[in-house]
Amino acid sequence: MATDNFGVAGLGVMGRNVALNIERNGFPVVAYNRGDENANRMRSESAGKNVTVTQSIEEFVARLNRPRRVLLMVTAGVGTDRVIDALMEHLDAGDVVIDGGNSHFPDTDRRAERLHDAGLHFVGCGISGGEEGALWGPSIMPGGDREAYERIAPVLEKIAAKSEDDGSCVTYCGRRAAGHYVKMVHNGIEYGIMQLVCEVYDILRRGAGLPTTEIQAVFQAWTESPQVGGYLVDISAECLAKTDSDGGGALVEKILDTAGQKGTGKWTAQSALDLGVPIPTLSQAVNARILSGLKQARVEASRILTGPTAPYAGDLEELVRILHDALHLAMVASYAQGLHLIQTASKEFDYGTDLAEVSRIWKQGCIIRSRLLDPIKRAYMEQPEIENMLVHPSFAAIVNDSLPSLRRAVELANASGVPSTCFGATLAYLDSYRSEFLPANLLQALRDNFGAHTYRRLDKEGVFHSQWSREA
Ligand code: 6PG
Repeated sequence: MATDNFGVAGLGVMGRNVALNIERNGFPVVAYNRGDENANRMRSESAGKNVTVTQSIEEFVARLNRPRRVLLMVTAGVGTDRVIDALMEHLDAGDVVIDGGNSHFPDTDRRAERLHDAGLHFVGCGISGGEEGALWGPSIMPGGDREAYERIAPVLEKIAAKSEDDGSCVTYCGRRAAGHYVKMVHNGIEYGIMQLVCEVYDILRRGAGLPTTEIQAVFQAWTESPQVGGYLVDISAECLAKTDSDGGGALVEKILDTAGQKGTGKWTAQSALDLGVPIPTLSQAVNARILSGLKQARVEASRILTGPTAPYAGDLEELVRILHDALHLAMVASYAQGLHLIQTASKEFDYGTDLAEVSRIWKQGCIIRSRLLDPIKRAYMEQPEIENMLVHPSFAAIVNDSLPSLRRAVELANASGVPSTCFGATLAYLDSYRSEFLPANLLQALRDNFGAHTYRRLDKEGVFHSQWSREA
């Protein structure tokens, strides 16, 4: 029996690359894009391959073997709904629609219900790894209908990244919108680690006055680090090494310091607030991007507001060691916060997500892949219900060993007036998390004082209210 074909709708660069990946792995592809440009690019990139390109949705659906499997690679948002609307007119009961975009998880729940009512299966599927990953092996995070997942699993397992010791980087992430939830949090962690890397760069550049070439050498050395080594450190070394073809010097120094964002980091922070999970490193990374956007205001404020400018005058090797250990701990805290959020969401939304599996599929292919993910996976295998991996013995040891370095890194940044937005937030998070007592006793007193909100006591059971005014 001939291998059943696979449909890909949406042929931007990610869609084209996933289509080529699927074809390279032995599955005939039917590829659809209404517009000429992407369709023509797909035609030329797939010349001589088992890919049929069509610009007609009727032909697209008609060419697919039943029950059909259609992967949407459309920019998240209204475009996804439009393609789904068009497809629904032609699909038949039992067909599977997979949304491979960065869709917001409530949209995925809504679409799943709609398709379910029409007898169709829907799989919300996070795909990470950028253009290269899409072509050569991404990390794939599908969720939704288990039966539908089983039908697409043979293809996903073939096209996903492979880790040397741990199989294909795809797993069933759980019921309903679990796949897109896991991908959203992946991106939240991505925001956190990227901002931490940028703060290291800033402390070395503005705090210690190092030229880009020397900062590049630091990141280059860290690519080999068992603690911080991973894709984001690798590409940091790559970005810092790039020379400007237009005028020479480091290209990074010519780039406008205003960061973009498409929403996944913000959604992670919003969902964490809704679920009551503290993820300050990840949330502050969103704030850092927002602050970076206030370029004009910052330019004006820089002429009015003053702060310390004294450069770091200590030993440089010592500074690099401190930053390395601080980055290591802050990366651990970023994964811990993100996985804590997924754990909580899984309970709240009944996803049934296995965190050891999530960590395993992040070991290769995705943007946040790093050497830390193997020990993280092992920790969750040993203690699947652990609320926060920071108290697992292997990570508690890292916290206890590296907290002095993180504290020192924040002090050094503060002393030279360099913002340590995410490092500072991480330090406060860790100091809070390891505190038996926080000042919320006074907070409760204040709430009871002005609003009779009541409080509980350490020394006896019950709910109390006091008259706080001195005249009473
Ligand atoms: C990935 C990336 C990818 C993209 C994000 C982040 O996992 O391959 O996360 O999905 O880079 O959309 O984008 P922003 O930084 O623009 O929010």
